[in-house]
Order: sequence, then structure tokens, then C-alpha cells
Amino acid sequence: MKTLNIAVIPGDGIGKEVVPEGIRVLDAVGRHFGFQFRWQKYDWGCEAYIKTGQMMPADGLEQLREFDSIFLGAVGHPSVPDHISLWGLLIPIRRGFRQYVNLRPVRLFQGIESPLKNWQTGQIDFSVVRENNEGEYSNIGGRLYEGTSDEMAVQQTIFTRRGVERILRYAFELARKSKKHLTSATKSNGIIYTMPFWDQCFRELATQYPDVRTDQFHIDILTAHFVRHPDWFDVVVGSNLFGDILSDLGPAVVGSIGLAPSANLNPEREFPSMFEPVHGSAPDIAGKGIANPIGQIWSGAMMLRHLGFSDAADAVESAIAKVLAASQVRTPDIGGKSTTEEVGEAIACLAEGS
Ligand code: NAI
Ligand code: MG
Repeated sequence: MKTLNIAVIPGDGIGKEVVPEGIRVLDAVGRHFGFQFRWQKYDWGCEAYIKTGQMMPADGLEQLREFDSIFLGAVGHPSVPDHISLWGLLIPIRRGFRQYVNLRPVRLFQGIESPLKNWQTGQIDFSVVRENNEGEYSNIGGRLYEGTSDEMAVQQTIFTRRGVERILRYAFELARKSKKHLTSATKSNGIIYTMPFWDQCFRELATQYPDVRTDQFHIDILTAHFVRHPDWFDVVVGSNLFGDILSDLGPAVVGSIGLAPSANLNPEREFPSMFEPVHGSAPDIAGKGIANPIGQIWSGAMMLRHLGFSDAADAVESAIAKVLAASQVRTPDIGGKSTTEEVGEAIACLAEGS
């Protein structure tokens, strides 16, 4: 029987509560389709940081290197500054393993009320492709004259031709397999070097994809269009910062951050890719057993798709859709009274029987 070797990092807060439900559903769908998982758990995160001073061991990446994929919950704890938890674990994995695509689907499910009025299932269904390795999130820069009235801070934004072209190419390819429409997020009116460069690469690459319809918007009006015309989009590509913002706004438009999944992909498969929900560790509800596990479970479906098990991925997504449409079993964030476990069990049951 085919065995998938997966490194599991539950992380902090609700990460520890939603990851077991992701595993439950993936094990169940594996039983149905005739494959299995070997889960290797790593207790890395803020608790480890408090004990050892490190979010993960120095050889962490080497330990993860040989796995088929990484399945991550969330990291972050109120007692540890967020830049330490992010730069100590997530960013080293995303960069070290060249996971330069952050793919975040946005879909309105039946049974979920959008905060926007009058949208139906099927009308909102698009993907945000975020550049995940360079751009605005760089550690090149510094502070001068700290604590004086002359104090200054400089942060460099990095756009390389290789980095911009590969993310745009991924987005064009995805659009080609989807509804053949690609939207680029820019801000070339205000940011006058990097963004015109991004636009130029976009135009150049578009000539190789004559079958894909393209458009571009400045990020400010684009956020407005996400709210007013979410049906306009198929694939939306943006730099690290713009993609980050759009990929929180997208899920908000279709209901709850608790539903939103993401994949950090190394499309060339030189390294393992990493799958995690969009949400964080939610300290405000951690320990109560009421976190929505669907973002984690859907991330598991994305992992299956990446590893070549598309039928199993479809089965998990359709089990999620059915449980949401039935409106019986759901967590409080989407108006229910069920626990994290009850939602996981309901989805696992459908996925196994599928
Ligand atoms: P958050 O996503 O943890 O929580 C935002 C709000 O959404 C909270 O009210 C929370 O209760 C709710 N929420 C989030 N996920 C939910 C779920 N599955 N079910 C029900 N409700 C859910 O974002 P926040 O509060 O900004 O950050 C908390 C911590 O998480 C911070 O330390 C932050 O750095 C970290 N974080 C980590 C991320 C990651 O590991 N990829 C991503 C975002 C934040
Ligand atoms: Mg974010």
C-alpha cells in the first residue's frame, strides 16, 4: 500500500486542536482510496521557544527535508513577539524550501452566509497566488540613531526577475487550467521602481499565454473590487505584501477565516511543500475545543492534490461542502454549537464513505 510520509507541526494554540482533525479526515479518505499516512510529529513552536530559546532546532530544515510534505497548524503565542515566531519557523521553511507560491483558494460554500449580500454558491470561486519568498518581506534594512529625534528605519523590498517571473508563470499556468483569467495586483503609480518592473514582467509573460485573459488593478481599488465584485476573479496574483492582504480579505468575503486553506508550494518539487490554514493560533479561543477545523482539513485536501491524489482531494472537498450545506454540524464562528472534534468526525465519516 502506498504510504505518504508527512511531517506534522501542530504549533501553538488552536493549531494543536485543528491538526488532529485534519489527520483524522486524511486517514479516513486514505482508507477509502487505498493509501496510508505515516505522520511524524514535531513539537516546534512558541512553547519550545520559551523552553529552549528556539522555535525549531538548528537542524530543523534537515529533519524536514526528506518528507513528502509538511502539515502545519499555526504558530504564535501572546508571550512571544510575532516576528520571532514567524521568522523563527514559518519563514525559514517557506524560504529554505523555496516555497515561492502561496496558494489560497476562496470559495463561497452553500450554507455559509457571506457578509456581502445576495451572493450564491458558485458565484465566488477564485484563487489568490501570493509571492512567498521575496518582495516586501525582507530582512535587509536597519535602524539608525535609535531613540533620538534623528531616528530612522529602512527596509528594502526585493524583486528579482527570477522571483517575479516564476510566480507570474505559476499564476498563468493555474489560470490556464481554470477559467483562463488572470488579474495582477500592482501599485505602479506610487511605487515607481519595483511595481513597474512587476507590470513589465506580467506584460512580457502574457504574450506566451494568449489564451489567458489578463487585467491589472492598483491594490487600493482591487481591495474594493474584492468586496463589490468578487465574481470578477479567477486567479489573482500579487507580491508578498499585496497577496497577504488579499488572501485575508478573500476568505472574509466568503464567511470565516476558519474555513480558509493555504499551500506553500515548491512547484519544482525540489523540496517538500507545506500546507496550513490561513488563520493563526487564535489565543482568544484556544483550549475551548471550538476552533473551526475546516481550514486545516481543506489544506489537507490541497496536500493530497499536490501529491497526486486528486480523487481523494475531491472527496475531502466534497465532504466539507456537504457538511457545510447540511448546516447541522458547525462551529460557533459560522453560527453553530459543535466542537472542533464533531466537525472533524462528520467530515471524516463522509470522506471515508465517499
Ligand atoms: P488569528 O487568525 O489567530 O485569529 C483572528 C480571529 O479569528 C480570532 O478572533 C480567532 O478566534 C478567529 N479564528 C481564527 N481561526 C479560527 C478558527 N479556525 N475557528 C474559529 N475562529 C478562528 O489571527 P491573530 O489573532 O491576528 O493572531 C494570533 C496569533 O497567531 C499571533 O501570534 C499571530 O502572529 C499568529 N498567526 C500565525 C499565523 C500562522 O501560523 N500562519 C497566521 C496568522 C497569525
Ligand atoms: Mg496573513
